[in-house]
Amino acid sequence: MYYPEELVEEIRTKNDIVGVIGSYVSLKKRGSNHWGCCPFHNEKTPSFAVSENKQMYHCFGCGVSGNVYTFLMQYENYTFPEAVKALAERAGVNLPEVEYSEEEKRRANRRARLLEVNKEAAKFFYYQLRSPHGEKGMQYLQKRELTPETIHKFGLGYAGMNGTTLVEYLRSKGFEDALIRDAGLATYSERRGLSSQFWNRVMYPIQDINHRVIGFGGRVMGDGEPKYLNSPETDIFDKRRNLYGLNFARTARSGNLILCEGYMDVIAMHQAGFTQAVASLGTAFTSEQAVLLRRYTDNVLLAYDSDGAGVKAALRGIGILREAGLSGKVINMKPYKDPDEFIKNLGKEAFQERIDQAENSFFFEIRILAEQYQMQDPEQKTHFHREIAKKLCGFSEEVERENYLQAIAEKYLISVDNLRKLVKSYAATAGEVQPIERPRSGIVSKQSPEENVKRAQRLLITWLVDEPGLYHKIKKYISPEDFTDELYAKAADKLFAGLDQPGFQPASIISMFEDPEEQKQVGELFQTTLPEMDSKQEREQAFHDILMAVKRNSYEYYNEKAGADITALQKVVAGKKDLENLAKTHISLD
Ligand code: UTP
Ligand code: MN
Repeated sequence: MYYPEELVEEIRTKNDIVGVIGSYVSLKKRGSNHWGCCPFHNEKTPSFAVSENKQMYHCFGCGVSGNVYTFLMQYENYTFPEAVKALAERAGVNLPEVEYSEEEKRRANRRARLLEVNKEAAKFFYYQLRSPHGEKGMQYLQKRELTPETIHKFGLGYAGMNGTTLVEYLRSKGFEDALIRDAGLATYSERRGLSSQFWNRVMYPIQDINHRVIGFGGRVMGDGEPKYLNSPETDIFDKRRNLYGLNFARTARSGNLILCEGYMDVIAMHQAGFTQAVASLGTAFTSEQAVLLRRYTDNVLLAYDSDGAGVKAALRGIGILREAGLSGKVINMKPYKDPDEFIKNLGKEAFQERIDQAENSFFFEIRILAEQYQMQDPEQKTHFHREIAKKLCGFSEEVERENYLQAIAEKYLISVDNLRKLVKSYAATAGEVQPIERPRSGIVSKQSPEENVKRAQRLLITWLVDEPGLYHKIKKYISPEDFTDELYAKAADKLFAGLDQPGFQPASIISMFEDPEEQKQVGELFQTTLPEMDSKQEREQAFHDILMAVKRNSYEYYNEKAGADITALQKVVAGKKDLENLAKTHISLD
């Protein structure tokens, strides 16, 4: 746990959910709830309910729900510790200072100083751009059709011809030479002393997700080399773990993130309203960045250049996304080179169409592969088919592999049967079909038995959260162990313990989990929408069915696990008895 559980709970209770959500969404009281238009999906009539009693929210339209922490996590895309910090500040609660060693203190201090010097340098470049010295830079940005608002939003600046004004400015602000050098803002030589690293360039400050300047990219005016010069890696600038534009993109709420190649692409896309665009930092896309993207979306679109280098980078990117469990799609930029040019020429509506038509990454890979073969030549064609078969072996899941197989066979006029045979023979020679991590979304059957079981467990928890009074009627039949999903068991354990206390608010459970990923899943646990039911009889039947399903699964689960273990067997026998009793019992929902 980042913070003690009691403190997290104290902060939660000091932040009334109606007040917090009310500052983002306009709410009106009707009945026991406060209603507003859901901020997580598009709607015109309010179906988003905030309950003062429960200190939870729920949208009857899209099904989101949670407590004050998860609201900030979903709305602001905060991590859990970030949400705790924000709410602690709001309620005036002091968070404990974590005990740091001398070494840690020194490092924290150094990072703080690096951030300060970068911020000051960004200011300097920003004012230079607007001064007579910055005319060339301003003209360049205007030629690229950036509006004053965009230039301001991204904090763009200019580094002039004079190599010492920045250094002098920073010294006057009290920054020592060593720090200026270590930040990568200036270099030292015998002849010139300390002089600016960047000159004759338009400056793009690179910000982390909290809008702090961690480095710079500078584009040369004219044809100088290198075209883009980037700050070196420093204690605060890790190029593998940051993305340009993510500080804005993370709250875009567009359902996807768009990865492009350059700073200018990101800026042009944001200006056109595609605020979900990000780019890597002058280096190739990394697996760390994929993991970072995964915090915000399952759906990443690639908007790389349409030239050879761009295609190569896209193929590489697809692989990295796939390893991170993300499904990638590729945006077709043709006949233009990059998003910047595309939008300038065809406009944002046309670009939105390209987003909607983005190509499945597997189809993209095969299409690029196809370009390497001359299909009139039977031998080459055979090679092509073999390569397809090999790639299909990458799908470990039968259904998915078969779906792709059929789609590809149809597209490239290959006999489905023959292609299937080819895949089988490859799978046989390769030993097994390669088990690779698959994207979470995709062509996966939602109705698998495991999913059904999990759904029943989720429904039961949701129901008990909605109607805590029911717990006392069923507690003799059910225990946290009946939840065979590990995380659900943990949540049930906390829920049941709480339901035995007077004045318990289920909203507190969500924030008892340490890991942001678990947080999200527990949030989802409360998001399950209960089936629509009119009559009391129907509801009672449904509740009984859910309870039975959970119990039956638990019985089967432990029965299988028990083996010769006597105590486990005893538990199984008891479980069986519970199950039989429960089958005969009527549980009233009154
Ligand atoms: P491009 O040369 O395609 O950049 O390189 P661009 O944004 O299209 O350039 P202009 O300004 O429109 O002409 C794509 C990205 O690769 C990195 C930069 O991040 C750039 O935005 N790059 C490129 C470098 O880091 N150094 C270079 O010398 C060139
Ligand atoms: Mn360009």
